[in-house]
Amino acid sequence: MKVLIYSTKEFELEKLKKANNNKHKITYVSDALDSTTATLAAGYDAISIFSGDDASLVVLEILKELEVRYISLRSAGYNNVSVKSAKRIGLRVANAPEYSPHAIAEHAICLVLGWNRRLITANKQVQQYNFLLNNLIGFNLDGKTVGIIGTGRIGSILVKLFHAFGCELLATDLVHNHFLENQYDLEYVSLKELCKRSDIISINVPLTSDTHYMLNTPLFQVMKPNAVLVNTARGGIVHTGDLLKALKNGTIGGYATDVYEKEKGIFFRDNSFSGISDEQLKELIALPNTLVTPHQAFVTEEALQNIAETTIYNLDCWEENRTCKNELEYGTVIL
Ligand code: NAI
Repeated sequence: MKVLIYSTKEFELEKLKKANNNKHKITYVSDALDSTTATLAAGYDAISIFSGDDASLVVLEILKELEVRYISLRSAGYNNVSVKSAKRIGLRVANAPEYSPHAIAEHAICLVLGWNRRLITANKQVQQYNFLLNNLIGFNLDGKTVGIIGTGRIGSILVKLFHAFGCELLATDLVHNHFLENQYDLEYVSLKELCKRSDIISINVPLTSDTHYMLNTPLFQVMKPNAVLVNTARGGIVHTGDLLKALKNGTIGGYATDVYEKEKGIFFRDNSFSGISDEQLKELIALPNTLVTPHQAFVTEEALQNIAETTIYNLDCWEENRTCKNELEYGTVIL
């Protein structure tokens, strides 16, 4: 199969080449897919894209016109692909659903601990030989209440990890996981109740039309004033404007995030010379009660290896006319 891989990152290239083992004829480009770069796919049977690429209807129609038939995502989230439209126009789409939920869950823990124990500030101070502790006071996780929004692959690992810290666990999800309820005393409650009772709130749902701006002013207002919100899912689940207000006026304690609502075109690039013009992101980064990482939760050796292997597996299935277990079939309206 002739395949064009968009948004190729230096750190994944060798792993993709190794997983492919010269099977498919792959061309790697660093360009992200959008309506202007879609024409690069002329002459290819399949493309592979990443979470920052744009596979909305207008782009899919160009791809269809160019006779591209398959799209393999190198990500678990697929809010950037209009899956319903792809299905309607006959393009088949698969993702990499479970390449390493541990990588993401562990990064969420890292955000909580890093934010809570002021690790970034501590390290900056120590580099200046300042060993004072006055502004480094955190809290024990033991005995705190953690609310997990979405107990799917990543959320359920977080239940286990926070339980090991001695936390009380609340969750909200469309589906209740009885194993987690029995094993870790997890209590399913409404989103509002979770927000009211939790000291730490972790977002682990996909970005869909139902979860878009799910966390907004009415929910920030019921949260504890020292509650910390952790987001390793997608930026668009949180209303950034409302969040900035809540962080500035002390409605909530803090925000630790790996994702940002308008990260496309900014994240995965070095903007240190050009700077950025997104005022909300600048404000978010500059606040003293935030911790922002650059969508890095998936960059572990193990996760990258699995992503590469899953990408090639998806292509193999299509070429060999086998059922592809990662093919997306959902009728849900994905943003
Ligand atoms: P999953 O599909 O296993 O779990 C998602 C859970 O959310 C499911 O249990 C589902 O029932 C629940 N859910 C969906 N809509 C809901 C709603 N409206 N209300 C309540 N619950 C709802 O997904 P997984 O693998 O745990 O990943 C979650 C998200 O994490 C992905 O969709 C992706 O956006 C993000 N992610 C971020 C990464 C990063 O590098 N920061 C890497 C991988 C995933």
